[in-house]
Amino acid sequence: MIRPDFHQLWLRAHSSYYYALAVLSVAVAVIATEQVIINLLMNGFEAMEPVTDRPRELMVRSGQDETGQVLLSVSDRGVGISADNANRIFSAFFTTKSSGLGMGLSICRSIVEAHGGRMSASGNEGPGARFQFVLPLHREDA
Ligand SMILES: Nc1ncnc2c1ncn2[C@@H]1O[C@H](COP(=O)(O)OP(=O)(O)OP(=O)(O)O)[C@@H](O)[C@H]1O
Ligand SMILES: [Mg+2]
Repeated sequence: MIRPDFHQLWLRAHSSYYYALAVLSVAVAVIATEQVIINLLMNGFEAMEPVTDRPRELMVRSGQDETGQVLLSVSDRGVGISADNANRIFSAFFTTKSSGLGMGLSICRSIVEAHGGRMSASGNEGPGARFQFVLPLHREDA
Protein backbone atom coordinates (compact mmCIF):
# COMPACT_ATOMS: atom_id res chain seq x y z
CA MET A 1 0.00 0.00 0.00
CA ILE A 2 1.25 3.52 -0.76
CA ARG A 3 0.99 5.74 2.29
CA PRO A 4 -0.08 9.28 1.47
CA ASP A 5 2.37 10.70 3.99
CA PHE A 6 5.33 8.73 2.65
CA HIS A 7 6.84 11.60 0.65
CA GLN A 8 6.61 14.02 3.55
CA LEU A 9 8.14 11.59 6.03
CA TRP A 10 10.97 10.87 3.68
CA LEU A 11 11.80 14.55 3.26
CA ARG A 12 11.87 15.11 6.96
CA ALA A 13 14.17 12.15 7.47
CA HIS A 14 16.72 13.41 4.94
CA SER A 15 16.18 17.15 5.28
CA SER A 16 17.48 17.79 1.76
CA TYR A 17 14.71 18.51 -0.70
CA TYR A 18 16.85 18.27 -3.84
CA TYR A 19 18.51 15.07 -2.76
CA ALA A 20 15.07 13.61 -2.09
CA LEU A 21 13.86 14.69 -5.53
CA ALA A 22 16.89 13.16 -7.23
CA VAL A 23 16.45 9.85 -5.42
CA LEU A 24 12.72 9.85 -6.12
CA SER A 25 13.19 10.49 -9.83
CA VAL A 26 15.66 7.60 -10.13
CA ALA A 27 13.30 5.38 -8.16
CA VAL A 28 10.40 6.34 -10.44
CA ALA A 29 12.47 5.55 -13.57
CA VAL A 30 13.53 2.15 -12.19
CA ILE A 31 10.01 1.22 -11.11
CA ALA A 32 8.60 2.34 -14.48
CA THR A 33 11.11 0.19 -16.37
CA GLU A 34 10.27 -2.76 -14.14
CA GLN A 35 6.61 -2.20 -14.91
CA VAL A 36 7.34 -2.39 -18.64
CA ILE A 37 9.24 -5.66 -18.27
CA ILE A 38 6.54 -7.19 -16.05
CA ASN A 39 3.87 -6.28 -18.63
CA LEU A 40 5.88 -7.88 -21.44
CA LEU A 41 6.48 -11.04 -19.37
CA MET A 42 2.79 -11.29 -18.51
CA ASN A 43 1.83 -10.94 -22.18
CA GLY A 44 4.38 -13.59 -23.15
CA PHE A 45 3.10 -16.09 -20.59
CA GLU A 46 -0.52 -15.37 -21.55
CA ALA A 47 0.29 -15.89 -25.24
CA MET A 48 1.72 -19.33 -24.41
CA GLU A 49 -1.20 -20.56 -22.32
CA PRO A 50 -3.00 -22.14 -25.33
CA VAL A 51 0.19 -23.77 -26.65
CA THR A 52 0.30 -27.50 -25.93
CA ASP A 53 2.16 -28.98 -28.91
CA ARG A 54 5.58 -27.35 -28.41
CA PRO A 55 7.71 -26.18 -25.52
CA ARG A 56 6.63 -22.93 -23.90
CA GLU A 57 9.76 -20.81 -23.97
CA LEU A 58 10.25 -17.22 -23.05
CA MET A 59 13.54 -15.45 -23.50
CA VAL A 60 14.64 -12.11 -22.12
CA ARG A 61 17.68 -10.51 -23.72
CA SER A 62 19.41 -7.31 -22.74
CA GLY A 63 22.40 -5.49 -24.09
CA GLN A 64 23.43 -2.42 -26.01
CA ASP A 65 22.68 -1.62 -29.64
CA GLU A 66 25.19 -0.23 -32.12
CA THR A 67 24.61 3.35 -30.91
CA GLY A 68 25.17 2.40 -27.27
CA GLN A 69 21.51 2.51 -26.22
CA VAL A 70 20.24 0.00 -23.67
CA LEU A 71 18.20 -2.67 -25.38
CA LEU A 72 15.85 -5.22 -23.86
CA SER A 73 13.76 -7.81 -25.65
CA VAL A 74 11.22 -10.41 -24.58
CA SER A 75 10.57 -13.27 -27.01
CA ASP A 76 7.99 -16.00 -26.56
CA ARG A 77 6.86 -19.13 -28.36
CA GLY A 78 3.19 -18.29 -27.99
CA VAL A 79 0.32 -17.84 -30.41
CA GLY A 80 2.00 -14.92 -32.21
CA ILE A 81 0.46 -11.76 -33.62
CA SER A 82 -1.65 -11.87 -36.78
CA ALA A 83 -0.93 -9.40 -39.59
CA ASP A 84 -4.41 -7.92 -39.00
CA ASN A 85 -3.65 -7.10 -35.38
CA ALA A 86 -0.04 -5.99 -35.76
CA ASN A 87 -0.99 -2.33 -36.20
CA ARG A 88 -3.42 -2.29 -33.30
CA ILE A 89 -1.68 -4.01 -30.40
CA PHE A 90 -0.20 -0.77 -29.02
CA SER A 91 -3.55 1.05 -29.13
CA ALA A 92 -5.27 1.68 -25.80
CA PHE A 93 -8.15 -0.73 -25.16
CA PHE A 94 -7.21 -3.12 -27.95
CA THR A 95 -7.33 -6.64 -26.52
CA THR A 96 -8.03 -10.16 -27.74
CA LYS A 97 -8.36 -11.50 -24.17
CA SER A 98 -11.69 -12.09 -22.47
CA SER A 99 -10.46 -10.44 -19.29
CA GLY A 100 -7.92 -8.05 -20.80
CA LEU A 101 -8.07 -4.28 -20.55
CA GLY A 102 -5.87 -3.68 -23.56
CA MET A 103 -3.82 -1.14 -21.63
CA GLY A 104 -0.56 -3.02 -21.02
CA LEU A 105 1.29 -2.27 -24.25
CA SER A 106 -0.11 1.22 -24.57
CA ILE A 107 1.22 2.08 -21.09
CA CYS A 108 4.55 0.34 -21.82
CA ARG A 109 5.09 2.43 -24.94
CA SER A 110 4.17 5.66 -23.11
CA ILE A 111 6.62 4.88 -20.30
CA VAL A 112 9.45 4.05 -22.70
CA GLU A 113 8.83 7.16 -24.82
CA ALA A 114 8.62 9.34 -21.70
CA HIS A 115 12.19 8.21 -20.99
CA GLY A 116 13.32 9.07 -24.52
CA GLY A 117 13.21 5.50 -25.83
CA ARG A 118 11.36 3.51 -28.45
CA MET A 119 9.38 0.30 -28.27
CA SER A 120 8.39 -2.09 -31.04
CA ALA A 121 7.08 -5.55 -31.79
CA SER A 122 8.75 -7.71 -34.39
CA GLY A 123 8.51 -11.14 -35.89
CA ASN A 124 10.18 -14.02 -34.17
CA GLU A 125 12.24 -16.67 -35.86
CA GLY A 126 9.66 -19.43 -35.67
CA PRO A 127 6.38 -19.18 -33.76
CA GLY A 128 5.61 -16.49 -31.23
CA ALA A 129 6.26 -12.79 -30.81
CA ARG A 130 9.10 -10.53 -29.84
CA PHE A 131 8.85 -7.15 -28.14
CA GLN A 132 11.76 -4.87 -27.62
CA PHE A 133 12.57 -1.46 -26.33
CA VAL A 134 15.63 0.77 -26.37
CA LEU A 135 16.42 3.46 -23.84
CA PRO A 136 19.06 6.14 -24.30
CA LEU A 137 21.87 6.21 -21.77
CA HIS A 138 21.74 9.13 -19.35
CA ARG A 139 23.94 11.99 -20.53
CA GLU A 140 25.38 14.55 -18.10
CA ASP A 141 26.22 17.03 -20.87
CA ALA A 142 22.68 17.32 -22.25
N1 LIG B 1 3.43 -11.72 -26.56
C1 LIG B 1 2.30 -11.61 -27.27
N2 LIG B 1 1.94 -12.58 -28.17
C2 LIG B 1 0.81 -12.48 -28.89
N3 LIG B 1 -0.05 -11.44 -28.81
C3 LIG B 1 0.24 -10.45 -27.94
C4 LIG B 1 1.42 -10.47 -27.14
N4 LIG B 1 1.44 -9.36 -26.40
C5 LIG B 1 0.33 -8.67 -26.72
N5 LIG B 1 -0.40 -9.32 -27.64
C6 LIG B 1 -1.68 -8.88 -28.24
O1 LIG B 1 -1.83 -7.49 -28.02
C7 LIG B 1 -3.03 -7.25 -27.27
C8 LIG B 1 -2.83 -6.04 -26.39
O2 LIG B 1 -1.90 -6.32 -25.36
P1 LIG B 1 -1.95 -5.45 -24.04
O3 LIG B 1 -0.90 -5.92 -23.12
O4 LIG B 1 -1.97 -4.00 -24.40
O5 LIG B 1 -3.40 -5.76 -23.44
P2 LIG B 1 -3.92 -7.12 -22.79
O6 LIG B 1 -2.76 -8.00 -22.43
O7 LIG B 1 -4.94 -7.68 -23.71
O8 LIG B 1 -4.63 -6.60 -21.48
P3 LIG B 1 -3.91 -5.89 -20.21
O9 LIG B 1 -4.42 -4.49 -20.21
O10 LIG B 1 -4.36 -6.70 -19.07
O11 LIG B 1 -2.42 -5.95 -20.43
C9 LIG B 1 -3.32 -8.55 -26.53
O12 LIG B 1 -4.68 -8.69 -26.21
C10 LIG B 1 -2.87 -9.58 -27.56
O13 LIG B 1 -3.85 -9.75 -28.57
MG1 LIG C 1 -1.07 -7.22 -21.36
